[in-house]
Amino acid sequence: MPLVNAAEMLTKAKAGHYAVGQFNINNLEWTKAILLTAQELNSPVILGVSEGAGKYMAGYKTVVGMVNGMLEELNITVPVALHLDHGTYEGAKKCIEAGFSSIMFDGSHYPIEENIEKTKELVAICKEKGLSIEAEVGAIGGEEDGVIGKGECADPQECKQIADLGVTMLAAGIGNIHGKYPENWEGLSFETLDAVQKLTGTMPLVLHGGTGIPADMIKKAISLGVSKINVNTECQLAFQAATRKYIEDGKDLQGKGFDPRKLLAPGFEAIKATVKEKMELFGSVNKA
Ligand code: 13P
Repeated sequence: MPLVNAAEMLTKAKAGHYAVGQFNINNLEWTKAILLTAQELNSPVILGVSEGAGKYMAGYKTVVGMVNGMLEELNITVPVALHLDHGTYEGAKKCIEAGFSSIMFDGSHYPIEENIEKTKELVAICKEKGLSIEAEVGAIGGEEDGVIGKGECADPQECKQIADLGVTMLAAGIGNIHGKYPENWEGLSFETLDAVQKLTGTMPLVLHGGTGIPADMIKKAISLGVSKINVNTECQLAFQAATRKYIEDGKDLQGKGFDPRKLLAPGFEAIKATVKEKMELFGSVNKA
């Protein structure tokens, strides 16, 4: 099936009280592992691409070519959206040109008026081209691609203002952060999430920083309207641990163990296992 935008899969998720996972990709192994797992579990999926990862993979057109090729040659029939993660205004336009099916415009660091203005313009372009669009209110903490957010809680009124612009999905900061959570993390602010959902109604809400959030908090967030959950670091950690083990066990020194197809295989399997665990937790299995 060709790429789809994320609107239908997220509307269904919100109505069905589950969430679709957004898993960030870094290379061919990542992409293939995520697509095959989604197909095996009959789950919709969103492939996230940060601007840094897009650059690393030789540009957005390369990413689009790789993903479209895999959808066809791996016979992927579940709904797949290719989504720009934390895009700038310029990055969003480039991805729209390159053939992404969904974008995120992260204007959370702008004053709210400027965030509204730029989001509004991109909503109009996405509507015309049939793409889905995610906006953000209240910076997500932690570091991603060198951008450090404070992890604030969004103002529910501002969330409503942005939701009313016609975005497909809304990321509201609720004390979540990217990367590993510190020991003294206070947890998600369900009070904020509840207030945002009350004002935004059926709008699918997005939870960033999915790595390391305890299962009970994930379930509660879904019950309060979260329909898309982003996971990045956890796949990286799983890949790293499996690759480290392969080398520490000396497997790269045995026979043809130096062959990159062998060297990267344990990491590939580790990503698949992580994605499977998350899809089961989010409730998206058999929802394709
Ligand atoms: P983690 O890296 O914490 O899983 O966050 C991913 C994310 O929110 C991408 O936007």
